[in-house]
Amino acid sequence: MTMTTRTFSPLLSTLILSASFALSAPVHAQDALPPGERPAEFTADNIEKGRVLYKQMCLRCHGPEMVGGNNAFDLRKFPLDDKARFFNSVKNGKRAMPALKDILTEEQITILWSYVGTRGGKL
Ligand code: HEC
Repeated sequence: MTMTTRTFSPLLSTLILSASFALSAPVHAQDALPPGERPAEFTADNIEKGRVLYKQMCLRCHGPEMVGGNNAFDLRKFPLDDKARFFNSVKNGKRAMPALKDILTEEQITILWSYVGTRGGKL
């Protein structure tokens, strides 16, 4: 019995250690999309225009670089495979998120999507 405990405790501590690391790890943005799966609109030009537009239109609620917004959705976690939801939420709003369809064009929303969808050009 003693032998068994000795044999297993290092393994057990390793497991506990890895588990607590996993739990205490900071919340990261969703993993990058593999290059082949990135939408064509995620161009360097769109991302840079998106950065400017984001500062003008979204920063005051969603925070600089999408970090530290006032209770607003953390845009770094927005699902990358749900462009339709992004467009719908930006156009029609969602609870405290204002509807922006009369303010932004489709092209501008695409530009914002390129910025948000690459986590500010970091993917
Ligand atoms: C007046 C503050 C405000 C501004 C300005 C604002 N948002 Fe939001 N946004 C919010 C809040 C609050 C939420 C969380 C809504 C909820 O789920 O209750 C949100 C949520 C979102 C969501 C997630 C919606 C979903 O589908 O769950 C997206 C995407 C989003 N905002 C994009 C943007 C973009 C892009 C801009 C700039 C064009 C912007 N927001 C400007 C406050 C704002």
